[in-house]
Parts: sequence; structure tokens; C-alpha cells
Amino acid sequence: MPYRLTVLGTGYLGATHAACMAELGFEVLGLDVDEAKIERLRSGELPIHEPGLREVLQRNLDNGRLRFTTSYEEAAAFGDVHFVCVGTPQKKGENAADVSYLDAVVESLAPHLTRECLVVGKSTVPVGTAQRLADKLVRLAPAGPQVELAWNPEFLREGFAVQDTLHPNRIVLGIGSEKAEKILREVYAPLGDVPIVVTDYPTSELVKSAANAFLATKISFINAMAEVCEASHADVKQLSLALSFDERIGGKFLNPGLGFGGGCLPKDIRAFMARAGELGADQALTFLREVDAINMRRRARMVDLARELVGGSFQGCTVAVLGAAFKPNSDDIRDSPALDVAATIGDQGGRVTVYDPVALDNARRAHPELTYGSSALEAARGAHVVLLLTEWQEFIDLDPEELGSVVATRKIVDGRNALDAETWRASSWHYRALGRP
Ligand code: UGA
Repeated sequence: MPYRLTVLGTGYLGATHAACMAELGFEVLGLDVDEAKIERLRSGELPIHEPGLREVLQRNLDNGRLRFTTSYEEAAAFGDVHFVCVGTPQKKGENAADVSYLDAVVESLAPHLTRECLVVGKSTVPVGTAQRLADKLVRLAPAGPQVELAWNPEFLREGFAVQDTLHPNRIVLGIGSEKAEKILREVYAPLGDVPIVVTDYPTSELVKSAANAFLATKISFINAMAEVCEASHADVKQLSLALSFDERIGGKFLNPGLGFGGGCLPKDIRAFMARAGELGADQALTFLREVDAINMRRRARMVDLARELVGGSFQGCTVAVLGAAFKPNSDDIRDSPALDVAATIGDQGGRVTVYDPVALDNARRAHPELTYGSSALEAARGAHVVLLLTEWQEFIDLDPEELGSVVATRKIVDGRNALDAETWRASSWHYRALGRP
């Protein structure tokens, strides 16, 4: 009989994992402590914007393979394999990750585990967490050592969550026994021929931290080059293109601009540094402090460049901000560089109007002090400068003439190096971009 799966925590990762595992043919029970979220999921409504996920969710609700609950007792009775998908956000006022949601899941689930099962952590955690949770599970579960733990980090990207889950580039399994490996190989068998790296708990935890640290470093590397380009009148976009042809370097994650945000890269590099410090290996990761600093400097540089373009002060100026999400194809505004810049300009006296195709509701909740437009053209009406801060396709497709007809002055800063400078200049726009002359 195929395993029955539960997914504990139905946020970004959990909702996607639950729907996709049902899509693969498993019976899946999703659990969350948030009643309202569970109600929405039951009716086929997603709490997040994620292309393609709604269809997968609906299909598997309809065929009965996917259900949702708020009861740990029900989840424990149902599941052979329990995937833990709760968040590990940054602690307030500290760099370290807050793993309390993970502990809460284990403490709520374990007392109901009366038979053999496998608990599989997918959350991003400080190295050492898996072993601690494995011990806790055995201690708290009535079934004792029949309850095993595995660590199986997740590498999905927001905006591509379904594709990344159904077609992962690798699967990493941190296991405590061959039995756990066998179970997880069976669970992931429907994915086909995907490289699987089987390792111990700490290595599997570190793979995830290292992957995000590398990606963040690559982005900050090209943004550091952008700073040097600005100082030397060179063009970082051409520099990046030239680097990309070297296969050892590669062009992915080498787009210069406003830098990284979101619920993962910024907090993960900070948590990684904090954990290394606890382990006495802080020197190994001091470079990540610089990676973080370079990233944050891009936001400050963006504000400075916009202020320069409006004559040295935002007082009395109207600024249009295109983009609120931390990246396109997402409504996630966690640590969004775009909103950070918008809020700073607002603080400095600018009248800021923000537009985003899907993240407006989230943005409004987080920044009620800003003004919001219902389209790019409306946000840009009367603007003294337009800032493109999230590279949504609809912004890339904007017609410079049409946009030019509504603004007060034709000035644009391309914070994502997404527009064709020549096209905009040909329409009499004063075009500026980070890292380019
Ligand atoms: C990231 C990783 O890419 C995933 O592999 C990982 O699973 C996920 O975190 C996670 O830990 O859960 P995500 O946060 O969805 O995924 O976003 P990315 O696509 O990595 O983009 C992060 C930020 O970097 C965005 O703000 C984006 O605009 C920025 N970025 C990306 C750049 O500034 N330049 C680039 O070249 C690429």
C-alpha cells in the first residue's frame, strides 16, 4: 500500500508540497493551526499568489486525494510519513532563526504517534536542529524509537514552486537509518530520474544554508561590481553578460540591480552566520556580513539616485514606484527591496505611489502610509521620477510614449536593469540604472 502523507504547516512550502504530493498520486492530509487558512485551502483558495498552484490544489481536492485539517490527532492517525514545512523566520532584533514553530509541531504531533512512522523536516534550519528534534520525537512519542526523523531540505523558488517541486534538480536526504532512506526513495520515485544525495543530518541541513549563501553571494558579487562600475563609468550589464559566457561562472543569479529580498535569502544568510558563531566557526562566514551589507547598500544607492534625479530633495516631489513584491510572479513582500525603497523615499518627504500587479493588498497592509495606484499608468500620473523596482513583465512591456504622456517629467530609474535603455532614451526619457553610466 502506498504511504499516506501529511504536510504540517501550509504556508508557501507546505501548501505547494501538499498539493504536489497529491498530484503525484499520494493521499495527503495538510495541517495548519490557522483555522482560517485551512478553510480557504479546503475551498480551493490559496493564501498566496503562485502560478499554477491553484489548479493543482483544486484538481486534488476534487479527486479526494488532498484534504486539510487542524487536528494533530487526525494527522498522527493518518500519516505514515509526516512532512514538516513550517517557517523559520529571523528572530526579532537578532540574526538567528526562530525555530519555535518547528518545536511546536514536534511537541503537538509526537504525543499522538502511537505507531511506526517517519517525520521529515523540510524547513531551513540551523545545523544541529535535526538531531535535537529527532531526540525530542523519540522522547515524546508513545511509539518511542519507532518514530524516526529525516531531513529533506527544499529548494523551490517562489513563482516556480510547482515546477520546482515536481521537477527538482536534486533531492537531499539527511537520514538516520537505511529504512528512512528506503521510504523516502519510494515517496519520491514518481518524480523519475532525479539525482539523490543521501547523507547525515548536519550535512543535509548545511546544504540548504550553503545553497542560499552561494546564491546571495553571487548576487552581491555582481552588485559589488556595479558599485565599481558606477565609480569608473563602466557598464555592469555588459560586464555581467561578458562574465556569463564563462561556464564556470554562468549567467544565472548574475543580474545586477536592487539586490535580493524575500523570506529566504536575507534571513538565511543571517541565521547561517549566527549559527556558525555559536559553533565557533564565525570567521568562516564573516564574508556573508559583507554580502548582506552590499545588498543593503543597493537600496540606499537607489534612493540616492532617485533623489539626485529630482534635484536633491524629495520634498514636493511625486515618485512612482513600479513593483512591491520582492520579485516578479509573487505577491510576497517579505523584506522586499522595492517596498523598502518606497518607504524610505516616503520618510524623506516624497509623495510615493506604488503599483504592483498582485502584491498591492499585502503592500497596503504593511505600508498603509504609502499611496497605491491601480495600474502602472495611474501610479505614474504626475510623477517627477518613475522607479522600476520589481521586473514584472508588464513593466518591461510598458510603452515609453504612453507612460511619457502621463508623467510630469520623463525620468526613470531601472532598478532591475530590465529595460532597453536605448528605446527609452529614444522617447526622450532620462534613463538611469544601477551600475550603468
Ligand atoms: C530562494 C532560492 O532561490 C531557492 O532555491 C530556495 O529554495 C528559497 O530561496 C528558499 O530558501 O526557500 P526565492 O526566495 O523564491 O528562492 O527567490 P529567488 O528567486 O532566489 O530570488 C531572491 C531575490 O534575489 C529576489 O529579490 C530577486 O529579485 C533577487 N535576485 C535574483 C537578484 O537581485 N539578482 C539575480 O540575479 C537573481
